[in-house]
Amino acid sequence: MLDDIYTNGELAALYDSLNPAGEDSAFYLRSAGTPKRVLDLGCGTGLLACMLAARGHAVTGVEPARAMLDIARGREGGGAVTWIEADARTLDLGERFDLIIMTGHVFQVFLSDDDVHAVLRAAHAHLAKEGRLIFESRNPAVKAWESWTPEQTARTVSVAGVGEVGVQHRLIAVNGDRVAFETDHVFHGTGKTLANASTLRFLSQAEIGTHLRDAGFIRTAWYGDWIEGPVLPESRELVIVAERD
Ligand SMILES: C[S@@+](CC[C@H](N)C(=O)[O-])C[C@H]1O[C@@H](n2cnc3c(N)ncnc32)[C@H](O)[C@@H]1O
Repeated sequence: MLDDIYTNGELAALYDSLNPAGEDSAFYLRSAGTPKRVLDLGCGTGLLACMLAARGHAVTGVEPARAMLDIARGREGGGAVTWIEADARTLDLGERFDLIIMTGHVFQVFLSDDDVHAVLRAAHAHLAKEGRLIFESRNPAVKAWESWTPEQTARTVSVAGVGEVGVQHRLIAVNGDRVAFETDHVFHGTGKTLANASTLRFLSQAEIGTHLRDAGFIRTAWYGDWIEGPVLPESRELVIVAERD
């Protein structure tokens, strides 16, 4: 089940203003290196996919939410990327890639062990020999969700063609490693409010490592930030570079 923020065109239109390119994009661009075949799983609105294509990579972006993919297709430089509307868990493109990425915490949308296994197996099956899978997940030790309150997250973004939109998160429940929260979007121009319910999974470094081994990845490097520092207990991110055999 896809979240409304990805399937509802009015909410998808806010995505780039709420999630502009940052340190994470710079890390992925650096890691990609010289031009190669890149598969972006859960590419969303395609901002990073287009940045990679502009640097000479042959990029395929996979995304199941039509509203996100419509934005990706219409983006400047979007014609240079191959866009595919599909679920990463069941992907079978019959092609191999030198680099597969899952950015913007896509990995955390996979809520069951079966789903995690399916997406990692699909990534493994699409990797060329010595290819790399690079992705990130929020470190559960930091409990980022504790600050997902209206008081700590409320902000207003200005969106071209839409106007000002107030956005805030509200933690709903923590069930083991699954965190449920809601996001309110208030469109100042019309007064309309759209709420979105999300659940994300927070796996530990050890758990992700086990899933990667089960999916056939033999070597894994871990970073705790976007400048390739070590994973520390207080690291907000777990950044993973996994190599296939
Ligand atoms: C937080 S967004 C990240 C988008 C983009 N990678 C980025 O960095 O901005 C998560 C994306 O994962 C996509 N997604 C959800 N379920 C998926 C699945 N089963 N296979 C592939 N993508 C999925 C969503 O539709 C959404 O576009």
